[in-house]
Amino acid sequence: MKRFDESSLLLSSESAALLFIIAAGELVLLLVIIIFWMGKRCAHRHSSVRDPSSKSKTSREKIEAEVPFDKLADSYDSSFCNTAVGRLLRRQTWKNLDEAFATSKLKSKSKEKEEAPILDISCGTGDDAIHLASQHVHVVATDYSPGMLRKARQKCCSNPCVPHDYQPTFKELDLRDSHYNISLDPIHKFSGAYCNFGGLNNLSPEEISHLAYELLELVHPGGKVVLVVMGRFCLVETLYYLWKCNLKRAFRRLRSTQKSGGVSARVAPNTKKQTIYFYSLSFLDRTFHNTRGFRTVKKRAIGLTLPPSLWSRSSSKRIHPCLLLLLSWLDSVLSDRWPFLHFGDHFLIEFERL
Ligand SMILES: C[S@@+](CC[C@H](N)C(=O)[O-])C[C@H]1O[C@@H](n2cnc3c(N)ncnc32)[C@H](O)[C@@H]1O
Repeated sequence: MKRFDESSLLLSSESAALLFIIAAGELVLLLVIIIFWMGKRCAHRHSSVRDPSSKSKTSREKIEAEVPFDKLADSYDSSFCNTAVGRLLRRQTWKNLDEAFATSKLKSKSKEKEEAPILDISCGTGDDAIHLASQHVHVVATDYSPGMLRKARQKCCSNPCVPHDYQPTFKELDLRDSHYNISLDPIHKFSGAYCNFGGLNNLSPEEISHLAYELLELVHPGGKVVLVVMGRFCLVETLYYLWKCNLKRAFRRLRSTQKSGGVSARVAPNTKKQTIYFYSLSFLDRTFHNTRGFRTVKKRAIGLTLPPSLWSRSSSKRIHPCLLLLLSWLDSVLSDRWPFLHFGDHFLIEFERL
């Protein structure tokens, strides 16, 4: 009995030692894995610190590889430009573009100003360029989306209203580029510039400021700059979402303050989300005045009582054309009056280059 106890004791001390060795081994293995993993993380961090361009370069390459607006190019006309609401909204902006560029061109006595073209910033599928060209205005139409430019070129070539001598020139220009002249060369100066329907809402506040300084260089003194930008408060949109008890959507534009850095949204299905910034009239006013080269000549709302541009396809189907015409008339009466000029889907602000 005693011998049996001793051997069992021996056995249990042997197995305890074995267990201890296994546990220690596992602990060492775990430590090796942790050290290896931490080493890899440090190496990764160091490599990105040593080469700061490497990370930005890859994300930049990615953006270039997939311009989300390329995917929108084919459906942009049917979802906005060719809808009843889209046409009524654009007509409101054409009234101002005509006054700024087409009518003043007829009155202008300066030969240099007459010959210099108008710059279309983020032209999309080219409706504004076609409209101005058909009134004998030279337009250089730019966009960063090759898909949009392709569509615009096709529409222009097949449009009988565009005279042969006034075919717009199309150029690829990314508004985030540091020098626009590199893309626009050999054309150096313009007699005016415009950006219609929210091209600027894809730019951050710093990029808008950069654009203002670039336009200061590019536009002749006396030339007009017309910008149509999505505002921070759209009365119709807010009332609709309040009625639907959707507070988040009702005030999503207001959430896009300069500090929060915009709202994440998809411009077309199956594209990655990108940041959209909503701006106030006073922000654009201030940014262009800071260059000391522009004075504000006009402010108004675009799409005050008409449905917002994002709903143009569905609302064009649902709302009777006569009611849409009535709303458009109401817009024309109210849209340049305070406070309504701040409450539209977009606002229009016009500057004169000093
Ligand atoms: C809502 S569409 C407006 C198109 C056109 N201006 C119109 O009135 O229909 C916005 C346009 O901005 C362009 N865009 C977005 N970001 C841009 C950038 N960084 N540089 C140049 N164009 C840009 C898009 O490709 C798109 O064509």
